[in-house]
Amino acid sequence: MRDIAIIGIGMIKFGELWEKSLRDIAVEAALNCMKDAGTDRIDSITIGCMSGGLFNGQEHLTSLLPDYLGRHTTPAVRVESACASGGMAVRSAFMEVASGMSDYVLALGVEKMTDVSENIETYTLATTADGDYEAFHGINLPGLYALMAKAHMEKYGTTRNQLAEVAVKNHRNGALNPHSQFPMEITVDTVLRSALVADPLRLFDCSPITDGAAAVLITTVEEAKKIGKQPLVIISGIGVASDTIALCQRKDILKFEAVELAGQRALKMAGKTINDINFAEVHDSYTIAEIMVIEALGIVKEGQGGVATANGITSLNGKFPINPSGGLKSKGHPIGATGVAQICEAVLQLRGQAGKRQIKNAKTALTQNMGGSGGSCVIHILEAK
Ligand code: COA
Repeated sequence: MRDIAIIGIGMIKFGELWEKSLRDIAVEAALNCMKDAGTDRIDSITIGCMSGGLFNGQEHLTSLLPDYLGRHTTPAVRVESACASGGMAVRSAFMEVASGMSDYVLALGVEKMTDVSENIETYTLATTADGDYEAFHGINLPGLYALMAKAHMEKYGTTRNQLAEVAVKNHRNGALNPHSQFPMEITVDTVLRSALVADPLRLFDCSPITDGAAAVLITTVEEAKKIGKQPLVIISGIGVASDTIALCQRKDILKFEAVELAGQRALKMAGKTINDINFAEVHDSYTIAEIMVIEALGIVKEGQGGVATANGITSLNGKFPINPSGGLKSKGHPIGATGVAQICEAVLQLRGQAGKRQIKNAKTALTQNMGGSGGSCVIHILEAK
């Protein structure tokens, strides 16, 4: 297997982008990525998108996107794993270059979610749950995460305020990110006074509905050295795992088994432990999700995610910064783009280009992207060399 580097990243500002189409935002992110890389060589494209069909009436992105990128004969594949589609697209790009099949692969994540009614948004997001045994009976994603939040509060004594602290911290970081959809600071009170979505989760406990795209260009370390990018950012580990799609089938609904296993696999491949990681971008689709993810990754002890957050452990200048970008909560969550955008943030931090939200001496990063209520997960370990 060849060693892999990321030589380009491309983000756009996330938000409700009425004036732009799905193809516009994907092309914008791809062009930003090529500009950042200093090359327009692309041998192949992997596309992360969950549901162009339901959100936009547009499938066949493997023809549309190369076409509108001005390279209609370039091979492309689309990767779908619900909200983990973006991270899985980066993994596919990694494998394609590592295997020697291609030398330069663009991983392009995109989702345009705001052009449909709230009913269609909710229906589409609920397709990430078990269609027959969950969604058909009326439970949706906020409902599933609310069940986890209630159980976590009951078992570990996690408080309503501790959940809110996750959102407060991520909005504080997101306010420093020019690409954020909701770049404003909030207080615990803002969260507690926001509309109830699924008890105990309120509007500000939820990631928003977002239009967005992000891209990374992957090549071999050998090629990256020729281009001369400094510091060189490599992908040293990747781990993927699945879990039952239905929450009721899990041994313990308070354990993200896929996150735990994907984390162990990625760290093993990189030859690292969680203590070697300087910061992480994680999938805070709901405040309770971030709490359970940092527990599953072993960043904090089981049941301690809420307390650790309230104590500032995961703040930008804390012992283990989580979501310096603002996370899904403040930066936004355009499903297929999210996993790619997490990697863009990790690369910015490792290059020392993250501006006011720069983490000091960031050398090793972890990104964690998961599908639905945790039924699939992909984790990347990135290092500055
Ligand atoms: N954080 C902060 N502000 C938000 C927000 C959020 N998560 N979501 C919406 N807002 C703002 C909107 O901009 C709007 O402000 P305005 O009135 O000034 O324009 C207001 O709050 C109401 O927004 P609206 O779009 O009407 O909310 P909604 O009721 O349609 O949707 C949710 C709210 C929480 C149901 C929806 O955002 C949602 O389903 N989120 C979860 C997404 C999800 O599950 N993703 C996959 C996870 S893996």
